[in-house]
Amino acid sequence: MTTIAAGFEPYPTIKKTDPAVYRALSAEGERQAYCLELIASENHVSRAVLEAVGSILTNKYAEGYPGKRYYGGCKHVDEVEDLARERAKQLFHCDHVNVQPHSGSQANMAAYMAVLEPGDTILSLNLSHGGHLSHGMKANFSGKFYNVVHYGVDPKTEVFNFDEIRRLAQECRPKMIVTGASAYPRTIDFAAFGEIAREVGAYHMADIAHVAGMVAVGLHPSPVPHADFVTTTTHKTLRGPRAGMVMCKAEHAKALDSRVFPGLQGGPLMHVIAGKAVAFGEALKPEFRQYQERILANAQTLAETLKGFGYRLVSGGTDNHLMCVDLRQVHADLTGKQAEAWLEMAGVIVNKNMIPFDERKPTETSGLRIGTPAVTTRGLNTAEMRIVGEFIHKVLSSRGDQSVIADVRQRVREMCQQFPMPH
Ligand SMILES: Cc1ncc(COP(=O)(O)O)c(C=O)c1O
Repeated sequence: MTTIAAGFEPYPTIKKTDPAVYRALSAEGERQAYCLELIASENHVSRAVLEAVGSILTNKYAEGYPGKRYYGGCKHVDEVEDLARERAKQLFHCDHVNVQPHSGSQANMAAYMAVLEPGDTILSLNLSHGGHLSHGMKANFSGKFYNVVHYGVDPKTEVFNFDEIRRLAQECRPKMIVTGASAYPRTIDFAAFGEIAREVGAYHMADIAHVAGMVAVGLHPSPVPHADFVTTTTHKTLRGPRAGMVMCKAEHAKALDSRVFPGLQGGPLMHVIAGKAVAFGEALKPEFRQYQERILANAQTLAETLKGFGYRLVSGGTDNHLMCVDLRQVHADLTGKQAEAWLEMAGVIVNKNMIPFDERKPTETSGLRIGTPAVTTRGLNTAEMRIVGEFIHKVLSSRGDQSVIADVRQRVREMCQQFPMPH
């Protein structure tokens, strides 16, 4: 990845034409450049992905699919969408892929709608145990359209208990079992879930939004052989533009494509699909595997560092790019909300997160979710992860002391200068 020289002005035209938007964009650029991004679902895309997403393809309407569009002039966007599809297939070895979903939630919606009717039962992971809102939260479309039954993690081990999940599946006879998570720090045994789905005659949808990058390079088991549908976002560990994608078995291809368009969406965002094509091209290179290995090594080191300061991690650690920190052992009265705010003042960006069986509300929480994809993109390695763990402990132990926060803020700035953004 190339880095951009100091003094480079990324928005020379907006600067002249729209000072209000320019101010916000520049301030956000500054924030990203000088803060450590530890939100597990975020990343920093390459300059090439940014160029694609900011390209003239935003001008083009292309309802339909390559070779079967409802608009003229689609020759070149057809090439782009075909490249994205072919590269996705190469990465994930799936029968069929649809690269048009605008987001992860829409990818999930398309997979549900391909085989479910409103009122059908889905069995999915509880939001407060690491699930995603599009897996059946009451206020989300998924919770409104479907009858949702949740499985959770085992109260003792905080990992999946397949005997219990099988029992639940046999009891509620779901039409679909949804796997995948937003905050589950352990390897997901998609084969075991697939087996339960087959036993009860349910479809299996695996949402790999978080671990897609690791799945692509073989560092997390792939659900593709075990699931009817595999959905993902493209912007987390996969390091592409903010968007979604659905893969499926050949038998569901027609239903899936017609649910995405015209079922759910109109014209695809061709500039974003170009960004996906570019990101998938990057993910096919050998360096991408090394990048994923470094994400994992960094997560291990940060987890061990935090444990060394006495923090309890949900399930005792991590196998992937994220960890969920239970703050209560070290700071009994500190909420995730307060911890997030103090860390942000110090330039360390994380998000508050429920821990399984949390007594606090989702707006307060007893935990933090911390992930390493974005800082790994910047070039931070395990030595820096130990220092980042110290920053976190220092800020939280200071109880908001402004001089401690200012000192850490300065050290975070220096670290950011040492490891500049990739664009
Ligand atoms: C597991 C999972 N699925 C789906 C999504 C939804 O993605 P989006 O925000 O693009 O709708 C997320 C987002 O964080 C996620 O973690």
